Amino acid sequence: MLNPKIEKAFNEQIQKEFNSSFLYLAMAAWAEEQNLPGFGHWLRLQADEERLHAMKFFDFILDRGGHVQLLGMDAQPESWDSLEAAFEAVLAHEQMISRSINDLYKLALEEGDYPAQVLLQWFITEQVEEEKSAEEVLINVRRAGDSQAALYMLDQTLGQRVAGGTEGEETA
Ligand code: FEO
Repeated sequence: MLNPKIEKAFNEQIQKEFNSSFLYLAMAAWAEEQNLPGFGHWLRLQADEERLHAMKFFDFILDRGGHVQLLGMDAQPESWDSLEAAFEAVLAHEQMISRSINDLYKLALEEGDYPAQVLLQWFITEQVEEEKSAEEVLINVRRAGDSQAALYMLDQTLGQRVAGGTEGEETA
């Protein structure tokens, strides 16, 4: 029997992870409309990864005999003022998700839910990586500045990201 407080909080986290996926998919569409296919590719993979995050909570709830509730999705922005603004939004979003995961861990400790703690430890580690990769892309976007050549190279690099990895940020 899943603790009802954990069940409720995990269902809300499913919503946040799917909203993350939706946000990055919206950004991917925008990037591709700006003729930045590499950025689009990186963001599409990020959207896929967020769906997998949502499904980890989804599966955990079901494995523990809980009830899954799919809450409403937010409408996402359709455009950003610049690539820098877009990746500032990515980083801010990941920082918000990290706070949310930390709050869940605190709840799991308070409720003495050990399996939930184990799941959340994976997410705590993952969020370190998520913030790092968002920050690396942001730094490289800032470095590229107004240089079309540098932006082209960065787009090529981000286009090499493979599923399950964040290749591309560090070498750009
Ligand atoms: Fe699911 Fe990007 O954190």
